[in-house]
Amino acid sequence: MDKFVVRGGNPLLGTVRISGAKNAALPAMAAALLTDEPVVLENVPEVRDIQTMRRLLVEMGAEVELRHDRTHHRTTIQCCEPIRAEAPYELVKTMRASTLVLGPLVARTGCARVSLPGGCAIGARPIDLHIKALQKLGASVSQEHGYVEARAEQLRSAHIVWDRITVTGTEEVMMAATLADGETVMENCAREPEVADLAELLISMGAQIQGAGTATIRVRGVPRLHGARHRIIPDRISTGTFVIAGAMTGGDLTVENCRPRHLGALLEKLAECGAVLHVEDESIRVVGDGRLLAADVNTEEYPGFPTDMQAQYMALATQAAGTSMITENIFENRFLHALELMRMGASIKLEGRRAVVHGKTQLSGAAVLASDLRASASLVLAALVADGETIIDRVYHIDRGYERIEEKLRSVGAQVIRVGEMLPKRAALAPAQ
Ligand code: EPU
Repeated sequence: MDKFVVRGGNPLLGTVRISGAKNAALPAMAAALLTDEPVVLENVPEVRDIQTMRRLLVEMGAEVELRHDRTHHRTTIQCCEPIRAEAPYELVKTMRASTLVLGPLVARTGCARVSLPGGCAIGARPIDLHIKALQKLGASVSQEHGYVEARAEQLRSAHIVWDRITVTGTEEVMMAATLADGETVMENCAREPEVADLAELLISMGAQIQGAGTATIRVRGVPRLHGARHRIIPDRISTGTFVIAGAMTGGDLTVENCRPRHLGALLEKLAECGAVLHVEDESIRVVGDGRLLAADVNTEEYPGFPTDMQAQYMALATQAAGTSMITENIFENRFLHALELMRMGASIKLEGRRAVVHGKTQLSGAAVLASDLRASASLVLAALVADGETIIDRVYHIDRGYERIEEKLRSVGAQVIRVGEMLPKRAALAPAQ
């Protein structure tokens, strides 16, 4: 298992380029199941979850060409018949987003068998609402031996009001409805940019969709979809992670090839904390002088403050003067990083869904354990300002969603190296400048 060894203390200076959004690319790949023609996706990030989705589609009989050279980051997917409409446990257990294939499969083939994902490090994360919505579209759904099986000769339109907002639920059912008979109306939908990006792809495949990116989405079913070419939006969570890195390290960092308009709540919060931000159409420059002020955060569905930025914000809060109250409203167990930050000297009190962080604290390097994707990012951020050396174990979590983060950080002055268990002892890191 790879580890990161980080020596803290260097300000980040220079420019980093943001890759495509993992959480937009995953549903886009699943959407390719809706047609037998090729779907070409550009700006697909080179991360482990994308490899997992590729393996899943290949298992189903799809041809998937994935090119991750410096210029392309392109995948071409073609799903001709016959399709093996099953997502096995071995893959679903490594990536919950595998369940995104359920809707497209049942819409295209009339039958799908997908392993139930089970719990995860950040919460129970059931898919009951996805199932309920597919039933409304006319699918008969049964659960047996840890699998959910959905069948429908022809999906039909429905009026769906989501009990609670779900991102992949909205995406999955939007995909299924594109081939249903009649007009489906969904209310209380997720408004995340990734949902709108998926709709853009589906529309270019011939789907009739209105309102994606708002709370009400209308999908008029069509008999068939065709191939298309689509460019995935930049990753807003990677963008936010680098902006926080610039602010925390007192650097001068330009984050380019991003969509600042997808990060409204975070950028406003960082400005409240005293970070100096220069925001352009497709770039953000953050200039930090090492003086940050505490501010409270409540995670919410988009356009609120993203739960996927909560862990990274907590790392920043350890460097902000005063008390920051961080309330996690989306997932019930998303504070595992707090315990590791405390091991690095952070002053954090956990009270149920709330973390109270007192800053500013001089963090000190330690051996820490990454528990999930965003938690690992938060530990990397903390390590960048810690005194001495931090060793972050289980960085396979970070590889699921950040493209070569250590190389990007190194290119702007951070001291981060990756060491594998099989590699000889790492090369020595220079002392911080
Ligand atoms: N929920 C239910 N029942 C359902 C579906 C969701 O109770 O059927 C609950 C969840 O347990 C959670 C809340 O509703 O408490 C919201 O979950 P949501 O369904 O929106 O999450 P998701 O679609 O599984 C996506 C992202 C996550 C991100 C969340 C919230 C993808 C592939 N994943 O997950 O990303 O945290 O939305 O914004 O898009 C990450 O990238 O690190 C990550 C975890």
